[in-house]
Amino acid sequence: MIALKSTREIETMRRGGKITARVLGDLMRAARPGVTTRQLDRLAETGIRALGGEPTFVGYHGYPGSICTSVNEQVVHGIPGDYELREGDILSIDIGTTFEGYVSDSAVTVPIGSVSKEAARLMRVTQECLMAGIAQMQSGKRLGDIGWAVQAHAEGHGYGVVRELVGHGVGTRMHEEPQVPNFGRAGSGSELRPGLVLAVEPMITQGGHAVETLKDGWTVVTADGKLAAHFEHTIAVTQDGPKILTLRDIGEHPDTRLYRPAEENAASA
Ligand code: MF3
Ligand code: CO
Repeated sequence: MIALKSTREIETMRRGGKITARVLGDLMRAARPGVTTRQLDRLAETGIRALGGEPTFVGYHGYPGSICTSVNEQVVHGIPGDYELREGDILSIDIGTTFEGYVSDSAVTVPIGSVSKEAARLMRVTQECLMAGIAQMQSGKRLGDIGWAVQAHAEGHGYGVVRELVGHGVGTRMHEEPQVPNFGRAGSGSELRPGLVLAVEPMITQGGHAVETLKDGWTVVTADGKLAAHFEHTIAVTQDGPKILTLRDIGEHPDTRLYRPAEENAASA
């Protein structure tokens, strides 16, 4: 059963989504060479609690962190630890917040210092995939329209779309129905209706789309060792179109870095 949310519930989710967005923005700025992924995890937990939320991920099926930090060929679910970020890495940060009983879920991939043109392009196109998927979230469209839009954009750039992991409904639980694949056929699947809230999260690879899980039981990596990127928002379908509940303030946070080549980022760092 797909649970539709009332206007009031969506308003609560928007307040929670603001916490997720603000803390994720702080993490994006903090992610620099020499910083460990554990330091980012500490910062996330402190930041979420200071704003009145709770980290959703910690303890989820025994997951040990407040966020996921996935570097380079790691696709998702990397566990924060001693790893020190290095110039040239790309880092995916995934964060979930529970606020007044409702979950919001968001992720970005950011450059650490200057990165290669190829890495910057992968991040840019993956963020575009997310926005292309979100643009389909109109009342009367279908679930398959989202996956189709993501897949067409990714494969149009020669990239792979991870199949094993998908987006999801989100609400009082982090993972609700329906599943939201990042591939599909336009016009297929169930109809999107006002009150539907989804976490859309394309995971896009530079090479093949096959993935493997490391021995830690969590970290998902590309099978061919090529780079992967991951962007995620929590979005509500409304009468007036999609409303992104985890939108960051672009003026305040360095999302725009993703659109500039490495040389310029180095100049402004
Ligand atoms: N954004 C991820 C997801 O939707 C977060 C899950 S990480 C976990 O699946 F550790 F909490 F499982
Ligand atoms: Co998610």
